Amino acid sequence: MDLTNLIETARAASSRAYALYSNFRVGAALLTANGEIYIGCNVENASYGLSMCAERAAVFAMSANATNEDGRKIRLVAVVSPDAVPCLPCGACRQVLREFGCEEVVVEEGSGIRRYPFGELLPHAFGPEAL
Ligand code: THU
Repeated sequence: MDLTNLIETARAASSRAYALYSNFRVGAALLTANGEIYIGCNVENASYGLSMCAERAAVFAMSANATNEDGRKIRLVAVVSPDAVPCLPCGACRQVLREFGCEEVVVEEGSGIRRYPFGELLPHAFGPEAL
């Protein structure tokens, strides 16, 4: 799947966001090392703190479905919001993406697509190799 398709998959996921309180919709589509694609959208809650971001929803779907090591390794994640361009992952999502080796984050920027090497978004990260 090319990056444009992955962005479009994230956009489709954002249309299913449950963002009743913030009205800020986010969709994520991640590609694993073995070629699987998982999506997520943000799902908010009347108890605000229980809300979940799109990126982490996608990571949890991946982890729950992975049957081998590559299936739990993230090649890249595309993030789209119809309410903000670009829409970059929050700090908590960066840490969770880091856990599974995410190599790149892809977002819309202007009229094009921008690719961020993960190390630019979360430099000097704490990860599983430290334990
Ligand atoms: N949100 C995401 O889904 N991903 C991000 O990286 C940034 C924030 C969601 C959380 C909340 O539902 C809404 O956007 C506003 O913060």
